[in-house]
Amino acid sequence: MSPLMWEWVSFALRWVHVITAIAWIGSSFYFIALDLGLRRALNAPRGVGGEAWQVHGGGFYHIQKYMVAPEGMPEDLTWFKWEAYSTWISGFALLCVVYLAGADLHLIDTSVLDLARWQAVIISLVVLAAGWIVYDLACRSPLGRHEALLAVIVFGYFVLVCLILTYVFTGRGAFVLTGALMASAMTGNVFFVIIPNQKKVVASLIAGRDPDPELGREAKLRSLHNNYLTLPVLFMMLSTHNPLAFATEFNWVIAALVMVIGVVVRHFFNTMHAHGGYAWWTWGVAALCGIGIAWLSSFPAPAPAATKQSAAVRSSLAAAIAAPEFAAVRDIVQIRCMVCHSDPPAWGDLAAPPKGVRLDSDENIALHATDIDLQAVRSRSMPPGNLSGLTDAERTQIAAWARAIGVD
Ligand code: HEC
Repeated sequence: MSPLMWEWVSFALRWVHVITAIAWIGSSFYFIALDLGLRRALNAPRGVGGEAWQVHGGGFYHIQKYMVAPEGMPEDLTWFKWEAYSTWISGFALLCVVYLAGADLHLIDTSVLDLARWQAVIISLVVLAAGWIVYDLACRSPLGRHEALLAVIVFGYFVLVCLILTYVFTGRGAFVLTGALMASAMTGNVFFVIIPNQKKVVASLIAGRDPDPELGREAKLRSLHNNYLTLPVLFMMLSTHNPLAFATEFNWVIAALVMVIGVVVRHFFNTMHAHGGYAWWTWGVAALCGIGIAWLSSFPAPAPAATKQSAAVRSSLAAAIAAPEFAAVRDIVQIRCMVCHSDPPAWGDLAAPPKGVRLDSDENIALHATDIDLQAVRSRSMPPGNLSGLTDAERTQIAAWARAIGVD
């Protein structure tokens, strides 16, 4: 297939994936809010445990929830499952097209582990399959009866997977695979537990038996995990476009903090939907984690070449960073250059920072001061085709810094 068609296939898949994910997460958020917000139903038919009134799209809705099931099964029962399945299918296809087919560009970093392409592909598939099995076994084990303990273990488990993957793949690959595993666990929960259990409940009711309450308990546990995994999964998927999140030494700690943010933010909304007031503290925790993430992202991944600098070089770098003009340059480089000049780059098919030029830390920017001035000020060869839209005012600011630190 021509590169152009390949590009369009991957874009089409991404489009479908985002659409299906919106449908899944949208309906999941809707039902969580509905369920938590139900009020006691007065004068309702037998079996109704709660109800809600809602207004939308020019009409009023009166929703009633039968706590186990209605007396007779309605004929046209709507199931919510294809949102989840189609999200996983399109996501997996996208993973194949972008990451597995482009393993040498996006997954493999020979300075991390020297893998052949097929090895990278097999490892990825094994991580997804085995990763799900381990998670599923943990939920089915006696641990499943201790919700809070299990939650802590599941959290630690995903962080550990991310940490291990950083010793196997690029930071970007580690993040996208951890995200894919978490998302597969969510879909697996729907496909292997929630829907089958619901079907068994329906079958018992039709047969006139009392459904096994254990089925409901299992499904509820998985549904709870899905609720809390949603936001971190979105971050992991989106982070692949933002090298600051993954191309740093402590990327796995960033992943852990993101999971904490996801959990506390969901907690805020869950409490609010359940008419339990506003847990404002959760935003404080989320903000602290956010600041922590921003701080951690400033640590570049250890660069083998940059470690042995002489005292003279170190002090001239320190002076270049201390110059008052530097802050503006740092901002400009972050916006205009880092998309390509970080390791690994987020830009298109770049496998590594072009010409090994990494502009992803203060030290690295200072180290390349002369080159930056040459490429972006004296000539206009950077950014290529001015792809990232460097303005003339910004070029002047870079020039001012270069002159101030004696580049000429
Ligand atoms: C869209 C991707 C992209 C962006 C954005 C980008 N570059 Fe580059 N950069 C490249 C590529 C590709 C090369 C290699 C060019 C070549 O092979 O001749 C490169 C090379 C360089 C080099 C090394 C040149 C050499 O010949 O040694 C420097 C320095 C550089 N860029 C600085 C910058 C600066 C400064 C910015 C931001 C103002 C920037 N780049 C933005 C893609 C990019």
